[in-house]
Amino acid sequence: MYITHLSLTNFRNYGRLELPLPQGVTLLHGNNAQGKTNLLEAIYYLATSRSPHTNSDIQLLNWDAAQADEPLVVGRLVAQLAAQTGEHQVEMRLIREKGRNGRSGRNNRSGRNGRSEYSFRRQALVDQRKVRLMDLLGNMRVVLFLPEDVQLITGPPNGRRRYMDVTLCQIDPIYCRTLSNYNKVLEQRNALLRQLAEGIGSMDVLPVFTEKLAALGSRIFARRATFLQNLAREAQRIHYEALTQGQETIRLAYLPRLEGNGNGRSTTTSNMEPSENWIQTHQADEKGIAKRFAQSLAETQPTDLRRGATSVGPHRDDWLMTINGRDLGSYGSRGQQRSAILALKLAEINWMETITGEKPILLLDEVVAELDENRRALLLAYVQKSTQAFLTATDPGMFTAEFLEKATSMLVENGRVYPDHQHKL
Ligand SMILES: Nc1ncnc2c1ncn2[C@@H]1O[C@H](COP(=O)(O)OP(=O)(O)OP(=O)(O)O)[C@@H](O)[C@H]1O
Ligand SMILES: [Mg+2]
Repeated sequence: MYITHLSLTNFRNYGRLELPLPQGVTLLHGNNAQGKTNLLEAIYYLATSRSPHTNSDIQLLNWDAAQADEPLVVGRLVAQLAAQTGEHQVEMRLIREKGRNGRSGRNNRSGRNGRSEYSFRRQALVDQRKVRLMDLLGNMRVVLFLPEDVQLITGPPNGRRRYMDVTLCQIDPIYCRTLSNYNKVLEQRNALLRQLAEGIGSMDVLPVFTEKLAALGSRIFARRATFLQNLAREAQRIHYEALTQGQETIRLAYLPRLEGNGNGRSTTTSNMEPSENWIQTHQADEKGIAKRFAQSLAETQPTDLRRGATSVGPHRDDWLMTINGRDLGSYGSRGQQRSAILALKLAEINWMETITGEKPILLLDEVVAELDENRRALLLAYVQKSTQAFLTATDPGMFTAEFLEKATSMLVENGRVYPDHQHKL
């Protein structure tokens, strides 16, 4: 699969961009703050409906266009795709409107009371037809490499959950729908728990939410377990064979929050392993998982009622990587962590291809400069085998002449993109 054309309107520092794109490797080079990362972000956003750099999508709108008193600002991202299933168009619109929700006519800017007079919404389109946001996902698949990926090992669990969700949602629409429903039910259950903690609300409704949560949550547990197991196998192979020449063995362990006791990675050895092993052997048995999850929800209900929050479930899951049996986050060297992450990401490429029969689009933002020779050679071998890959670099001099010869180079300058030969004219 590859993008043949990308159009951006009012996205970050791109006022208007119409960019035909070739197959193979494209090197985006240019000085700092010109728009290289923004271009990769746009492609990633079309594939996942999320930005890797912000949770506040309104920041993606070009700030010149989104001037204070502009009544309607629309950002548009459109990619034309050539895929196995034919040609497709995916589109995302970012819409900031003034005066919706009955607050029109007021002329003051975002309210000091914390409420804004602007509303913001997003709209997804596939082949020019409006679709639900989650139905945009899966039309275009990407694997993104960032220098900060190592935080998947060293950072907090929400980043690791997000990684599972974003990756799985590109492949598995049932997972994505289930996750969205789970989050809604979880929110409702938590709201009720908070009410009950304050002495309001009805206990009668709680079992309804709990039952729904168990059914949806078990499906998420099962799919995450299968996903991580497949990814782990592949990452382990790449790491062992290609990155450490048989010296080191990494493992990836799923830590499902199926049980009430224990609080994540710090208690992995005693508390988490049983349910981890259990879920791996039961991953095909959603009903069995639902039963055990429902039992945990019943056991933790008194705590939940006190806390006003649900303490077990996939929303508190985690996973960890170990090297030669030790937690990489706590004991791994920086270099070992980098190698493990590289193996994981390369495994993601192979996994996506195995499942869909198509290579994903690769996005690499400033990662090549950080890698030593061995890791760089391995990564660039994947890049060169890909159907389409985009790399950014401030200095193209770090690539070999042979690599540059095969790649298409484009200069990024102040929100414009110039194929190299055009710029020189
Ligand atoms: N919403 C926005 N509207 C307009 N410009 C924006 C917006 N958000 C970010 N920018 C600007 O976009 C510019 C380019 O950012 P980008 O991160 O793509 O640069 P880059 O080419 O990757 O640079 P570097 O080499 O430093 O990584 C920055 O100057 C930033 O201030
Ligand atoms: Mg950048």
